[in-house]
Amino acid sequence: MLPIHKIIWHEWREKRLPARVPEPEYMVDPAQIQAYVTAYEWNGPASALQLYHLTQLASMIRPGDTVVDLACGPGPLLLELAPLFPDCLFIGADLSQPMLDALSEAAAQRGLRNVHTLCEDIRDLPSLADLTVDMVISTSALHHLPDLECLDQVFARVERLLKPDGGFYSFDFGLVRSAKARALLVADVARRAPALTAQDYRLSLDAAFPMAEVIASARRALSRPLTVRSSWFVDFFYFIRTRDRGPPAPAVLAYVQAMRARCDVSVRAEAAMLQRLQRVR
Ligand SMILES: C[S@@+](CC[C@H](N)C(=O)[O-])C[C@H]1O[C@@H](n2cnc3c(N)ncnc32)[C@H](O)[C@@H]1O
Repeated sequence: MLPIHKIIWHEWREKRLPARVPEPEYMVDPAQIQAYVTAYEWNGPASALQLYHLTQLASMIRPGDTVVDLACGPGPLLLELAPLFPDCLFIGADLSQPMLDALSEAAAQRGLRNVHTLCEDIRDLPSLADLTVDMVISTSALHHLPDLECLDQVFARVERLLKPDGGFYSFDFGLVRSAKARALLVADVARRAPALTAQDYRLSLDAAFPMAEVIASARRALSRPLTVRSSWFVDFFYFIRTRDRGPPAPAVLAYVQAMRARCDVSVRAEAAMLQRLQRVR
């Protein structure tokens, strides 16, 4: 379990935001990609988040939608969504061809025909025409961008891509002020995951943008109402999303329930904590 009281204490004591340390923009190392794929296996360190994403997206994706996942990596979320929404088209966009190869291979192994890949920069996405996308999603990825100007470019591209009734859903880490708090967060993952995953997580926390800056950038670029939720103890992660686009898909909720039941108690506890997020004004 996360030592939440210690994290809050260290964060409360540290008043200044550190400079973020950008990560290499795209990921091509095979060992890193494999560690990434393994981290998303059910019951692993990303399971509670996956349950949360699926629950949110159950009422945001509609039958027949075109869904674009920005910086999809090996596509852990797309591989869950594609069989649950068989008549939707899922496009995973990433700059790393090896990441996209991992996604295509996994999709083929699972017999998924509704997952396509696009090796393009998410700031531009030149192959996609404006006003052709129903849902844009992005998870654990925007912190890879070099700076806030790039983030502005990504949100501006999202706005142009989306149809008038289109939706947006994103999750990412926020910049935690205290180095000690960050170390405790990494140590918690290191207990449950291989060293490479913990190392990757540390780099992600160091590269995170200050949460308020990301929210401001999204609000400037996106014309539709946004809801923001974040971790209530420190600004360590946040979700930015538009409103529901329909009733929740029963098949997705049933799947979430089944997968939650298969996970062990620590994943279920983390998933329960995610239900108590704080709404950011
Ligand atoms: C940490 S992975 C996230 C993967 C996935 N979205 C998830 O939920 O786990 C970040 C991905 O962003 C990609 N990336 C970084 N900058 C990018 C850019 N400007 N355009 C496209 N992909 C980018 C990297 O190649 C990497 O695959």
